[in-house]
Amino acid sequence: MSERKHSALYRYVERIQGDRPWGAVLDAGTGVNSLSWLTGLETDRWTAVTGSIREANWVRGAIKTAFRSQDKFLEGNWADPDLLQGEAFDTVLADYLLGAIDGFAPYFQQCLFQRLRPLTRGRLYVTGLEPYVPTLRPETKAGQLIWEIGRYRDACVLLSGQRPYREYPAQWVVDNLARSGFAVQSVKHFKISYKKRFVNAQIDLVLPGLEKHKDRTLVDALKAHGEALRAEALALVETEGALKHCRNYVIVAEPV
Ligand SMILES: C[S@@+](CC[C@H](N)C(=O)[O-])C[C@H]1O[C@@H](n2cnc3c(N)ncnc32)[C@H](O)[C@@H]1O
Repeated sequence: MSERKHSALYRYVERIQGDRPWGAVLDAGTGVNSLSWLTGLETDRWTAVTGSIREANWVRGAIKTAFRSQDKFLEGNWADPDLLQGEAFDTVLADYLLGAIDGFAPYFQQCLFQRLRPLTRGRLYVTGLEPYVPTLRPETKAGQLIWEIGRYRDACVLLSGQRPYREYPAQWVVDNLARSGFAVQSVKHFKISYKKRFVNAQIDLVLPGLEKHKDRTLVDALKAHGEALRAEALALVETEGALKHCRNYVIVAEPV
């Protein structure tokens, strides 16, 4: 959903981890980025969880590294109390999981870290995106375009009967972690520079859903609006190099 600095976030996690062994690792909201990174680390074993079979098949196909016999790739839902019940991991990664929860277990966000607590033996790393759609109009031109694109994307996703992502601020995560039996060790923000790939991906993302809508006049108007946003954003990327707006975060926590 976002053009984040994957390598910067993961590099930061590696730095914070230091000499601590990764041990048994849980990738609680897996994807091509987190699993590609994870398979390159010295882990004893890993378990990767996704809520969608489509995502599972896609990730499995995209990961080039062979899985070891001790590694597991699971489709499941954190709202299911039986998922990985009784297991524990030295390192747990909740990488852009919180923002995606709404699509799989709406309103479960406030229970997520409580759910991950018994599974976390050593350390929990949470990555996320500061919400940028439900905000007042940003002041910079780049900010306004990213905001408009986000609002357009989410409106189209809702119109096509699906649920958009719901991001949470780092402070919400910190407060929730404290209530869920974790002690927060650190919070670090990273500025984001959006490029052409992000702009195109966001506008293209909504097209299949819009095609299913019966009101062709509405669909044509929405598509035209999307194309106007795309053109304006791509032109600004051309002149400014990137659209600088929004921040990712990495939060490090350990069980109390
Ligand atoms: C945005 S993706 C995570 C990004 C990913 N780590 C990457 O490599 O870019 C969110 C992941 O969390 C999973 N997910 C969301 N809600 C879930 C839930 N309630 N139970 C299990 N998995 C869930 C999704 O299926 C998806 O695999």
